[in-house]
Amino acid sequence: MAAYEYETHDYDVVVVGAGGAGLRATLGMAEQGLRTACVTKVFPTRSHTVAAQGGIAASLGNMGPDNWQWHMYDTVKGSDWLGDTDAMEYLVREAPKAVYELEHYGVPFSRTEAGKIYQRPFGGHTTEFGEGPPVQRTCAAADRTGHAILHTLYGQSLKEKAEFFIEYFAIDLLMSEDGQCQGVLAWKLDDGTLHVFAAKMVVLATGGYGRAYFSATSAHTCTGDGGGMVARAGLPLQDMEFVQFHPTGIYGSGCLITEGARGEGGYLTNSEGERFMERYAPTYKDLASRDVVSRCMTIEIREGRGVGANKDHIHLNLSHLPPETLAERLPGISESAKIFAGVDVTKEPIPVLPTVHYNMGGIPTNYWGEVLNPVEGDPDRVAPGLMAVGEAGCASVHGANRLGSNSLIDLVVFGRAAAIRAGQIVDPSTAVPLPSKASIDKALGRMDGLRHAKGTVTTAELRLEMQKTMQADAAVFRTDKSLADGVEKMTAVAGKLDDIKVSDRSMIWNSDLMETLELTNLMPNALATVVAAEARKESRGAHAHEDYPDRDDANWRKHSLSRVDGASVDLTYRPVHLDPLTRTEDGGIDLKKIAPKARVY
Ligand code: FUM
Repeated sequence: MAAYEYETHDYDVVVVGAGGAGLRATLGMAEQGLRTACVTKVFPTRSHTVAAQGGIAASLGNMGPDNWQWHMYDTVKGSDWLGDTDAMEYLVREAPKAVYELEHYGVPFSRTEAGKIYQRPFGGHTTEFGEGPPVQRTCAAADRTGHAILHTLYGQSLKEKAEFFIEYFAIDLLMSEDGQCQGVLAWKLDDGTLHVFAAKMVVLATGGYGRAYFSATSAHTCTGDGGGMVARAGLPLQDMEFVQFHPTGIYGSGCLITEGARGEGGYLTNSEGERFMERYAPTYKDLASRDVVSRCMTIEIREGRGVGANKDHIHLNLSHLPPETLAERLPGISESAKIFAGVDVTKEPIPVLPTVHYNMGGIPTNYWGEVLNPVEGDPDRVAPGLMAVGEAGCASVHGANRLGSNSLIDLVVFGRAAAIRAGQIVDPSTAVPLPSKASIDKALGRMDGLRHAKGTVTTAELRLEMQKTMQADAAVFRTDKSLADGVEKMTAVAGKLDDIKVSDRSMIWNSDLMETLELTNLMPNALATVVAAEARKESRGAHAHEDYPDRDDANWRKHSLSRVDGASVDLTYRPVHLDPLTRTEDGGIDLKKIAPKARVY
């Protein structure tokens, strides 16, 4: 290996990633006086949270009756009873506080006539423990809520003197022999220098891995970098089989059309002009949970009732809505529909198709964001020095399926929780231990090997093969055959990383090397997804298995854990947390209300 020089920095906390979760964690850490660095491969306000449209769920009750228990019921049911009960309770109880904090930080929420935060209906959010009408729970800044949150949190973090290392690519975690995370090695993209960030706590906030698929609403930067680093550190990934398809990606481009469009009164139709969701989900119709809506759209297309020349997509109708509603509440998607589908939403329907949108699985954590490294007899063992928040993490509040607008609230509640926990366990008065030379050399060696890789397969070719395989074999509907094919093909695809070819050997703005590093992160995420999906012999949430159409709580109400090593995956399981934080007598949730039952909308 060539001799590499690197600069060493030391901080109490290093946050990797500057989306909603990373910035909320960074801000919370800095507010408490912890010396905090945020290392990010893109400029903070270009992080993928900027694309979040419809809103952030919290039971503020601004538009009608609501409470955290109803929100909890909807989240538990949405998760198809796979979420951890304590974490879900923490999420929904802290949600209103977290949203009011955002308001006070300066997020420009849309307002009601009375000046309160405007809230809209979203799929799967109901009243009366699923017995009442849909609730307006999703707090919105028009249809640019993520954009508003991201800009506000970045400004506040700067005010608190958090330090940003922008366009630095995190290569690997620096782990001690005994499993303590001691920092991260990063590469400064614009000048090619290398940097060791030593820290008492590393927080991974690197987002999802949507780009493991061919068509996704996710930005091209969503390459599962945290999951890749964790897998290489020998730590597991959890519940990777659960991949969410958003019902309304624009046909062709995959760009997101917010569920808020249906929240404001939009509806889906098939080639017969039928509002088919009324048939599948008679109570909540187009506002059923998004895994349900995606499956119904797929069935309509399969049964020949898709629209367009190839009958391969569905129409989303908004033209009956008042133009002022479209202009005020949905300006962003009106523009996206024009640009990406050539459609004027005041006159024509938008062509849409279920599109990969979100990863329920990720790095297992408790509800403080601490990463778990389970062993037999201790399924909740903490990996010291390491946290994961946002889509990179799996607390697990979304279980087998996430409700729309429960993602933005997850980002801020758990970003904030990680900061609270770090405030308790990170001592700012002590010196920062330096990562071992062996761990730094290992990370440099991997980077150097890829930089000089002389194989026969280019990164773009191998990435496309992975994306096409995942799209075909780990899709909305799965079968024993599609999943077995998927495992076989993905194992072969992952094996080809050993034969990768990188042409650019420079260190400055080397996008060839960066995309290769990203591919080495996508790959373990993708492989774990298909292997864990093949093993799960039931249908639950986003995992719709045609050979096992029912949920099987007796055998499968458990989290999968995938430890990925090259092209092989070691699969184990850990129990779902069934106990809430508080009991009915302490003002908590009535467990009978959230007991498993058939999931119908
Ligand atoms: O439809 C949307 O606006 C997406 C929201 C979400 O994924 O939470």
